[in-house]
Amino acid sequence: MVLSLSDTIPDFPKPGILFRDLTPVFADADAFRAVIDDLAGRFAGRYDAVAGVEARGFLLASALAYASHTPLAIVRKAGKLPGEVLSEDYGLEYGAATLEIRPGQLPQGSRVLILDDVLATGGSSNAAATLIERAGYVVAGIGLVLELDGLGGRQVLSDYDVYSIVAE
Ligand code: PRP
Ligand code: MG
Repeated sequence: MVLSLSDTIPDFPKPGILFRDLTPVFADADAFRAVIDDLAGRFAGRYDAVAGVEARGFLLASALAYASHTPLAIVRKAGKLPGEVLSEDYGLEYGAATLEIRPGQLPQGSRVLILDDVLATGGSSNAAATLIERAGYVVAGIGLVLELDGLGGRQVLSDYDVYSIVAE
């Protein structure tokens, strides 16, 4: 269902990048629910909190946090969070970016499940995982909807329990 619903858009956001967009998955109530239920089942009992990676990871993480009645941590792009923040720079297929988290929001040692929509090079997920650890938490796992083979993401994340609903 995920693959049949996802869009492939050439030359976005830069020429030469084949962009996988899961907007239609979110727009299909049955598909979105199936995605959340799948991730909830895979990691059941293994996490104390859920973290979403801005922006599309927020959609997944907020739904799963609500469904599993667990706290929600947010990992944002640079410059969006107030006060004390931890920052991690990372590379994207199409540039470089920074993710940030506010420490002190969850009990130390919390097992945090990180969610994002797509795994490509692994830069985003790896930066999020590093932030979770620097904040004093434990990475319970990384859950994704779509994993793009051949970009090395899984190798970058070899220290973590990585699960994607579909890979291609
Ligand atoms: C996309 C996607 C993942 C990331 C995957 O996000 O939503 O977060 O790239 O790529 P990676 O494995 O190579 O890091 P993007 O940074 O484009 O921003 P968005 O979620 O705010 O749209
Ligand atoms: Mg993203």
